[in-house]
Amino acid sequence: MLTLIAEAIEDYAATHSSPESPLLQELTRETQAKTKIPQMLVGHLEGTLLKVLVRLVQAKHILEIGTFTGYSALAMAEGLPGDGKLITCDIDPETAAIAKRYWSQSPHGSKIEMRLGPALETLQTLPGPFEMVFIDADKENYARYWELCVPKVRSGGILVADNVLWSGRVLHPTESSDHAIVAFNRQVHNDPRVEAVILTVRDGVLLALKR
Ligand SMILES: C[S@@+](CC[C@H](N)C(=O)[O-])C[C@H]1O[C@@H](n2cnc3c(N)ncnc32)[C@H](O)[C@@H]1O
Repeated sequence: MLTLIAEAIEDYAATHSSPESPLLQELTRETQAKTKIPQMLVGHLEGTLLKVLVRLVQAKHILEIGTFTGYSALAMAEGLPGDGKLITCDIDPETAAIAKRYWSQSPHGSKIEMRLGPALETLQTLPGPFEMVFIDADKENYARYWELCVPKVRSGGILVADNVLWSGRVLHPTESSDHAIVAFNRQVHNDPRVEAVILTVRDGVLLALKR
């Protein structure tokens, strides 16, 4: 992932944001040591943004698409109240095992439920409603995830999608994932059910408020 924001500015923003928990720091280190694409993890700055958003919308029911090693799920769970619940979907049992090991060490881990399998199938089994959805999986399916998720979000709830600037490739799309993100951004832009803004945080974070 090409960084869109100067590294020194990203570091400054992160160090002047609320600190991440020691467990999230440890999870980041293990993800860097043991996985092939550790930069998939949202990291301190975006993780803290997600946690603040959970608190802002007073979410109690969250749906996440794309668990990986469980960083964003745990960051959001830390923002949930004691009786809150987060369902997260992924297809990779190996990274899910790392995620579960870390969640089990956290007092917030019991709020998280993992669903292993293709998210498009899992989504059919989840009626909602949710106050927050975080989309961060295979880019080719973003448009489908959006259509399945919008009806499941309460009015006043939010949908968040990661990587919507796709390292800047949205300006000159060539690969299929580039075109998928470009089409997704257009689809959200034209969707009257939401009010949306693209934040230039990290790789681009779409934030949409359900009307
Ligand atoms: C960018 S990572 C998620 C990072 C995570 N949100 C975090 O910040 O820690 C994307 C994840 O989507 C998962 N994924 C890819 N295709 C999927 C699918 N069809 N259904 C569910 N998960 C999928 C991958 O296995 C990968 O773990």
